[in-house]
Order: sequence, then C-alpha cells, then structure tokens
Amino acid sequence: MIKVLVTGGTGYIGSHTTVELQNNGYEVIIVDNLANSNAGVVDSIERITGIRPTFEKVDCTDDATMKKVFAAYPGIKGIIHFAADKAVGESVEKPLKYYRNNIDSLLTLLELMPKNGVESIVFSSSCTVYGQPSPEYLPVSEQAPIQPATSPYGNTKQINEEIIRDAIHSGAPYKSIVLRYFNPIGAHPTSEIGELPSGVPQNLVPFLTQTAAGIRKELSVFGNDYNTPDGSCIRDYINVVDLAKAHVIAMDRMLKNRSGVALEYFNLGTGKGLSVLELIHAFEKATGVKVPYKIVARREGDIEQIWADPNYANEVLGWKAVESIEDTLRSAWKWQQRT
Ligand code: NAD
Ligand code: WQD
Repeated sequence: MIKVLVTGGTGYIGSHTTVELQNNGYEVIIVDNLANSNAGVVDSIERITGIRPTFEKVDCTDDATMKKVFAAYPGIKGIIHFAADKAVGESVEKPLKYYRNNIDSLLTLLELMPKNGVESIVFSSSCTVYGQPSPEYLPVSEQAPIQPATSPYGNTKQINEEIIRDAIHSGAPYKSIVLRYFNPIGAHPTSEIGELPSGVPQNLVPFLTQTAAGIRKELSVFGNDYNTPDGSCIRDYINVVDLAKAHVIAMDRMLKNRSGVALEYFNLGTGKGLSVLELIHAFEKATGVKVPYKIVARREGDIEQIWADPNYANEVLGWKAVESIEDTLRSAWKWQQRT
C-alpha cells in the first residue's frame, strides 16, 4: 500500500480526500493540529470507509515534531498539503498569523521531503490567485494571469506556489501538482463528514444552510448591483467529493503514472458560473426549503465574477466534476440537519 501524508486531514476538504484515498487503496496518515477541526472526524472517516486512518495531532510548522512523524511512519511517498488558515477576512486582521502558519508549514514539508524519500506533493491552492479576471480571461484557464493578491490569505497561496516553483526549479528531488480550487461546497453523501465552520460562517453555503435551519435569522446577499445578469456575484461552486477525487488522480499521476513532468497546475471547477441569487433559488428548488434573505451592501474585497475553464484538468487528468448543483446543495442541507 502506498503511504500518503494528508496535512489538515480532519478539515473539510482533507477529510473528504482521505475517504477517496482510502477508497483507492492508499494508506493515509493524517496530521492536523485541530485548529479548525476535531478529532471526531477520524471516527467519521472510519465509519464511511471501514478503515481508520492514522492520526497524529501535530502542527505542521513544528519541524522537530514533523521529523518524528516521518521517522515513525517510514515510506511516505506523497503528501497532500491542506493544512492552512483560510479565512480571508481574518487574514486581513491577523496577517502575521497567516504568513507564519501557511508559509512555514509548507517550508517544513519541503525541507523534510528529500530527507525522507517523499516523491510528490499536492498543494491546495485557490482561484483567488487570479483575482478578478478581465472579461477575455473568463472562463478562467491555467493561462490566465496571476494578479496581485487582495488579501494576505490569497498572498500566502501565491507565495507558496512560487516557493514550490523555485524549489523544483532548483532541482529538488520531488514533483508537485498545484490544484487551484474554485468554490468547494456540499458534504459527503453519508452526512458523516462535511463543512464545520467555527462561529459565524463567512462562506455562502454554510450561512445559507444555517439560515434554512433557523439558526440564522436571514441570509444577507452582499450586493445586487454588480455587472452580472441579476446583479449578484458569480462563482463556480464545485462538489467537495468531486474535488476530493481530483486529489487521488493527481497523486496517482505523480506516483503511479509517472507523467515525468515536475510541476503542473490545474483549475478545479465545474466550468459553470452561478450567481448568489441563482444558488439560493437552486437550494430552495432542490430542498423545498425557503431561505429568507435580504440584499445588503457589497462585501469589501469580493470579486464580481469568476468561473473555471476546467478543460485542461478534464483532458490531462481525465477528471471532471459530475455532481449536480441540486444534489450538492441537498448534501449540504442533509449535513446541516445532522450537525
Ligand atoms: P479547513 O480549515 O476545514 O481544513 C484545514 C485543516 O488544517 C484544519 O483541520 C486545521 O485544523 C488544519 N491546520 C491548520 N493549520 C495547521 C497546522 N499548522 N498544522 C496542522 N494542521 C493545521 O479548510 P478547508 O476548506 O478544508 O481547506 C483546505 C485547504 O484548501 C486550505 O489550504 C485552503 O486554503 C484551501 N482552499 C480552500 C477553499 C475553500 O473554499 N474551502 C478554497 C480554495 C482553497
Ligand atoms: C461566495 C459569494 C459573496 C456569504 C472565499 C475565499 C476563497 C476560498 C473560497 C479559500 C460571494 C456571497 C457570501 C454571505 C453572500 N477560500 N456571500 N452572503 O468569497 O467566493 O471565496 O471562499 O481559499 O479564497 O475568498 O466564497 O462563500 O465567501 O462567497 O452574499 O453571507 O457569496 O459575496 O459573492 P468566496 P464565499
């Protein structure tokens, strides 16, 4: 069995990816400091797959402890690096926390990989690196220009991509695939795992499902005066299980198919843009549950519209997002009703 280290593996995308890795015969070792998740997720993963992943409560920025992890689990061939802080708003208030955590964790891993025979790393990046693409670059392909980050969080993603690029250019003995996610939403069909936002959700779908559940009074739609058909912002909402499956394919590509290419980038989206208002109506249609909402002022830092051109990932990875928005929103609702 090929051993893969999943950092941030008790988190939202990491837990779903661990399930898919196990379903595809990988042995998973999770390291997570539980800054934004809980250890109960390990039990949930086991309930889904029947296989309990190894779990170590470790901070990826802690070099000494990470050295012990590699010594304790020899033979790790790949890493999927999810561990990071990811709240855009918080990153503006606490930039140093984000630079320290998101950059140090990657540097620790890259320094330890050659010393432990680790051949590949998948890095969690974000469409945020594209900023607001100009019209000629929509839908967004991997050739779209990287634009100056609009938050410290987004900047950590850009800096980390550059660190990986420079390390590999210097001849580092490993390969990397950088996956730029659009907007992951939804939950595992078993409702055993899903998004666990702490405090007031910043993202649309968890706030929407909490409103539908009566936890929140009403959903605020941040602006309907954008230059879009219905005035609300457009995003590419991708099912989290579809996203997780792309990570297995990426790991296979580096460890099994040996593409020979040292560094690749892929946009992971559905290729369909959906406005905030369209998503609300899709949720109501899919679940039969009304969502009280009001239009309020724009949220600072929001970009107007972005959605992926996923053709490169479709053709080269042989991966495609397949879950419908209705099934995805139903999975989010089912998960909300469980938590
Ligand atoms: P998440 O917060 O659910 O998961 C991240 C996990 O990493 C958490 O379990 C947290 O406890 C852990 N963690 C954070 N710092 C750590 C550290 N120093 N050491 C060990 N564990 C640490 O977030 P997510 O939504 O699953 O995102 C996973 C990755 O995908 C992140 O890198 C994020 O930036 C990226 N991403 C997320 C989205 C999104 O919308 N969710 C979009 C694009 C990219
Ligand atoms: C989606 C749309 C909001 C909440 C962020 C990060 C990005 C990535 C994914 C980490 C926007 C609108 C939202 C609400 C609303 N995270 N909205 N009312 O901003 O596209 O991306 O999460 O990598 O880096 O920037 O996602 O879910 O916050 O917002 O109207 O209560 O929903 O204005 O148009 P976003 P989001």
